[in-house]
Amino acid sequence: MKNIHSNIEKAKKYLTNNNVVAIPTETVYGLAGNAYSNKAVKKIFSLKKRSLKNPLIVHYYSISDLKQDCIINEAFNKLFRKFCPGPLTFVLNKKKNSRLSKYVNANKKTIAIRFPKNKITQSLLSKLNFPLAAPSANISSKLSSVTATDVKDEFGNKIKLILNGGKTKIGLESTIVDLTDKISILRPGGITIEQLEAVLHCKIKLKKLSKNIKSPGQLGLHYSPGIPVRLNANYPKKNEAFLQFSEKAKNKNNYFTLSKSGNMREAAKNLFSILRLIKKKGYSSIAVGRIPSHGLGLAINDRLKKASNR
Ligand code: TXA
Ligand code: MG
Repeated sequence: MKNIHSNIEKAKKYLTNNNVVAIPTETVYGLAGNAYSNKAVKKIFSLKKRSLKNPLIVHYYSISDLKQDCIINEAFNKLFRKFCPGPLTFVLNKKKNSRLSKYVNANKKTIAIRFPKNKITQSLLSKLNFPLAAPSANISSKLSSVTATDVKDEFGNKIKLILNGGKTKIGLESTIVDLTDKISILRPGGITIEQLEAVLHCKIKLKKLSKNIKSPGQLGLHYSPGIPVRLNANYPKKNEAFLQFSEKAKNKNNYFTLSKSGNMREAAKNLFSILRLIKKKGYSSIAVGRIPSHGLGLAINDRLKKASNR
């Protein structure tokens, strides 16, 4: 596959010239561009077929770089110390004199930022003099990519370079925590609510999505394998694939298991790749069994719920 590489210098060159490059992170692959460049950021939106109203996450290498663009606070410091780099995205207020392209955050006052934990991408970020805007590397509303091959499946040769970092460790997107208001979770993800509460010593609510939407990307059909998804099923219907959490039911050809032993981390890691596999095998729909909703299970159920929207 011609555009899949492990060449960081090449990526740096493309990015410096306002081109878009796919990067590995610990959560899912990202479609990255210079966050200070209108041209690069607009390319990301257009490749992804994403509405300009849905803001992107900006990826930083260091806290000193971040401070040029955002206002941090005490809760940020606590969470940063414990979880960064790692699968946690912060919504912060943007500084007035920040150099970030206005397209990155859809011209809002706030900005979503994170510090990815992946050696290749950290090394790349350390060599750049700008942060990277990067949404998940998939066409809008489709499944996120957890391998370089998934990115290739999504975009073909439309992206010049895909940095190959193997399969992502976590397999689900970062948790988004809003620190600009009463602290709340806008998207469950790789860091659990329980983990956040233990550090902040308070109850944190998962924001119910309303018309006054904070994370527009969380509305409507999302994470879709491209075939209907039916939740809380006991059995598959004819021609349906059955996705189960652990290996409980008698396994038939059309049964797919997130984690044989019922391990939540393993289940999260396998979610998107199994959904992609089911679609590739030609099934016309997916029935999903019950999945526990504690810990990472909250994020797994969130993704499946959105994949079942119509
Ligand atoms: O794990 C991840 O977070 C991955 C990797 C590549 O870093 N990125 C990712 O980006 O999931 P994306 O664009 O697929 O999802 C970003 C979400 C969207 O739902 C968007 O609406 C929300 O973040 N978001 C971005 N900026 C925001 C802001 N200022 N306020 C509230 N929500 C925001
Ligand atoms: Mg996404």
